[in-house]
Amino acid sequence: MSSWIRPHLRHLPPYEPVEPYEVVAARVGLPPERLLKLDANENPYGPLPQVREALARLAYPHIYPDPESRALRAALAEFTGVPADLLMVGAGADELIDLLLRAVLEPGDAVLVCPPTFGMYAFDARINAARVLTVPRRADFGLDVAAIAQAVERHRPKALLLATPNNPDGSLPARHEIEALLDLPTLVVLDEAYIEFVDDGGPWGRERSFIAQVPRRDNLVVLRTFSKWAGLAGLRVGYGAFPAWLMEVLWRIKQPYNVNVAAQVAAQVTLQHREQWAPVVDRLRGVRRDMLRALADIPGLRPHPSQTNFVLVQVTAAGLDGRTVRDRLLREHGVLVRYFDKPGLRDHLRISAGRPEDMPRLYAALRAVLGA
Ligand SMILES: Cc1ncc(COP(=O)(O)O)c(C=O)c1O
Repeated sequence: MSSWIRPHLRHLPPYEPVEPYEVVAARVGLPPERLLKLDANENPYGPLPQVREALARLAYPHIYPDPESRALRAALAEFTGVPADLLMVGAGADELIDLLLRAVLEPGDAVLVCPPTFGMYAFDARINAARVLTVPRRADFGLDVAAIAQAVERHRPKALLLATPNNPDGSLPARHEIEALLDLPTLVVLDEAYIEFVDDGGPWGRERSFIAQVPRRDNLVVLRTFSKWAGLAGLRVGYGAFPAWLMEVLWRIKQPYNVNVAAQVAAQVTLQHREQWAPVVDRLRGVRRDMLRALADIPGLRPHPSQTNFVLVQVTAAGLDGRTVRDRLLREHGVLVRYFDKPGLRDHLRISAGRPEDMPRLYAALRAVLGA
């Protein structure tokens, strides 16, 4: 029967998500609350108290959710300035990446990505039997805009998918670079999962976001999420702004009840009380800045500048690679960080910004593992 599987799916490499929290804790023999979880860029504070209360009081968990997330989209329109009819909500930004690619890709079509970057772009493209073209980033993780333009002219990919800021390094392309890419004859998908953490972005990253341009452009999609700044990763809720021609088909192909009742309520209550998040986002930005200094002070580590709630750090210590340091941080110190078994990243670790009071434990653990 396995020959019934679609040929392009038979040898598809799986996405490698982080291991569930409780599973890791059991494996290393620690209670979950003793682990320091800095591996998935989640918000260490979790949802606002008002969100927890609203979830405890959910009136209609037994009724299917609004398939059009009307109340949440109205709140998002007020938050982003983009009309609600250009906004779609998904079970995380992840769902929207998949939905968008399903809408535009024919088998054999190409998409363009700039590695190292978020793995879901290539993953979803491959599920859709698309070719994944790559224009690697420069050594400082900056974009090679000229090479991207050349690749677009030559191969005519249907979409260029970019994380702005990028995961795993945290860099944000200059505004003029993004504007140059928007002039290319392809659909440009800007994934702004971390835009709220950008330094010169103003409140919620508004000054650096491109979301307000979506209504004026035919080839721009901007994706956002409640997983990072708003502490709702476990509830799976993200959103995107899409041109009208795409919205029309997205409505027709999405699963009707893709965003559950709890996720819709949690996101709405988060937006209602968002002013409470502003100081927390500021605090996490501060942790990121402190991390850059503290990691640079540890011999054998070289952190990269970041505009997000995480820092990518190169392990330069002789005789150690990223995997060994990751394994020992977990086994010997109960500290979880992210390692990518990918070319160019095997000597790197990605570490999320946690609560300020937890970070000395990370630094002490790194010093112990590195013998520094
Ligand atoms: C660049 C980027 N986009 C999207 C996501 C996923 O967002 P969501 O949790 O909304 O699916 C992540 C999560 O790590 C990410 O790093």
